[in-house]
Amino acid sequence: MTPRLPRDRTLHTAGITGVGMSFPERRLTNADLEKMVDTDDAWIVERTGIRERRLVEPGTGASFHGALAARQAMEHAGITAAEVDQIIVPTVTPDMVFPATACLIAHELGAVNAWGYDLEGACSGFIFALQNARAQIEAGHARRILVVGTEIMSSITNYEDRNSCILFGDGAGAIVVERVEPERLGIIDAIHHVDGVGIRFLHQKAGGSVMPASAATVAGKLHTVYQEGRDVYKFAVKGMAGVTAEVVERNGLTGADVDLFVPHQANIRIIEAAQQRLGLPDSKVMITIDRFGNTTSASIPSALRVACDEGRLREGHTVVLCAFGAGFTW
Ligand code: COA
Repeated sequence: MTPRLPRDRTLHTAGITGVGMSFPERRLTNADLEKMVDTDDAWIVERTGIRERRLVEPGTGASFHGALAARQAMEHAGITAAEVDQIIVPTVTPDMVFPATACLIAHELGAVNAWGYDLEGACSGFIFALQNARAQIEAGHARRILVVGTEIMSSITNYEDRNSCILFGDGAGAIVVERVEPERLGIIDAIHHVDGVGIRFLHQKAGGSVMPASAATVAGKLHTVYQEGRDVYKFAVKGMAGVTAEVVERNGLTGADVDLFVPHQANIRIIEAAQQRLGLPDSKVMITIDRFGNTTSASIPSALRVACDEGRLREGHTVVLCAFGAGFTW
């Protein structure tokens, strides 16, 4: 069944016309982690699906790979920096608390006609930013928007905590969202949730207004990810599988109509739960967690680029994106 675009409810249709990614060269393998904490390759692969992640050299900000990914996305879409109206940057690891990383990326790109802002949705940040971009375009406030998911997760990872340090990697993914002809392509539907019940299970304790940085917070490693993984896992399985099925079913579709499922890459077992719910074969599911780990807001846009490069994503495909993260958000 061909999904119908909600033409009657909007002035315009928004579609993704370009995708890009950028990752640092340096690899942190499971073998490397074996030398740092009490863990082993077999445990990490079986419990998470991760084999290696990429890490920046210290001092590299999120804007660096963000700008590179954005350039690739613009090139893919065939647009120039001057044609970009807005830049939205979902990230939990901005270059600085302020100004917004969007300002740094706009400056680096020479996007002199764009305004923009950062958006905090943790691992769901990219999905939330995409919805913002879509809404701006459908309402006629913008024609071309860059959404740049970029993270330096190594800057907030405690490499003495085996529960969390095995999970995260650095990198960036970017997309161009543009006004498109309604007959052609476009974003069909979206469902978003937040539930503050998740705060206690996944957060960064220090560095915000409640607990500003001090010698004690640094010594206590309170500027890194705190996660009660088992609890987050249970919520993530339920949230990812549920919302994925809901958005497909309420559009009169089934898994058979989906050409590609591009989920947030947090844990292979969470992805498999959502895959099973839709009855999708492996060939329709993007997996990049093995090579990049969990890159938070960068995981979905970079996986879209990998899908293009591998010939698995083509114009006209019906694609489902899904994420779950701190907040909880999904
Ligand atoms: N290597 C070896 N053993 C480890 C380990 C590691 N790196 N990390 C934890 N363990 C141990 C634990 O200490 C525990 O031992 P115990 O039973 O003696 O206490 C055992 O392995 C099982 O730990 P558990 O936390 O139950 O493992 P898990 O199967 O839940 O996997 C995660 C842990 C973090 C991989 C998993 O919970 C997860 O992916 N959670 C969700 C992450 C997520 O989606 N976050 C939101 C988006 S960012």
